[in-house]
Amino acid sequence: MEVVICRDAAQVGIVAAEKVADRLRGRANPVIGLATGSSPLDLYAHLAKLVDEGALDLSQAYGFALDEYVGLAHEHPESYHAVIRRTVTEPLRMNPARVRVPNGMAADLVGAAQQYEEAIRAAGGVDVQVLGIGSNGHIGFNEPFTSFGSRTHRVPLTEQTRNDNARFFDSMDQVPTHALTQGLGTIMDSRTAVLVATGEHKADAVAAMIEGPVAIAMPASILQFHPDVHVVLDEAAAAKL
Ligand code: GLP
Repeated sequence: MEVVICRDAAQVGIVAAEKVADRLRGRANPVIGLATGSSPLDLYAHLAKLVDEGALDLSQAYGFALDEYVGLAHEHPESYHAVIRRTVTEPLRMNPARVRVPNGMAADLVGAAQQYEEAIRAAGGVDVQVLGIGSNGHIGFNEPFTSFGSRTHRVPLTEQTRNDNARFFDSMDQVPTHALTQGLGTIMDSRTAVLVATGEHKADAVAAMIEGPVAIAMPASILQFHPDVHVVLDEAAAAKL
């Protein structure tokens, strides 16, 4: 595990984006794993700048989002379908037909989860997985006590996660209660993972992920076993290391 501590969030975005770009360049059909949330926004903005400058071409790339809310229409502005389109597919000039998000509207969520795993495999597996971390240590929507071997599956969201995400909705009762997420096993299959975290509210989870025991109470701690993982932090998120 490589840990890089930057002076501020803007620098985190640049450093992390350069790591992602390095691993995507030169591949005919690169596959990028996409996180939502506020953490990777600066990373995506810097990737978009590289694309605009002609330093990176993602027109042939495949993208797979980590997760999606269950029961939230794809047209809802806070659905991850909409968020990924707005923050990734359009600014990075990716082919929308090659960018997939788990289908949280499917009548058969188990079938949708299996199809998602098959689509990732068919694309050749994820070259670089972008990750954020929840304040309780979740990655994707793999909440504490998720099996380390899990594949894409439906999960109930914890109260802490629903509270953290309530800012994106008008009221608490509109915050979805479940999600469809890639599993920890799916995430661990990525060839490279780049996790970004900023702000003091992430400091406890970051310290537990990096220096704590590998335990299902702290899902992100499984990354200690990832063969090529890079954690890019600002000073506030690194404060408890
Ligand atoms: C969300 C997403 C995660 C994200 C995390 C942190 O609920 N499902 O993929 O990493 O929570 O979000 P943020 O970056 O906004 O703090």
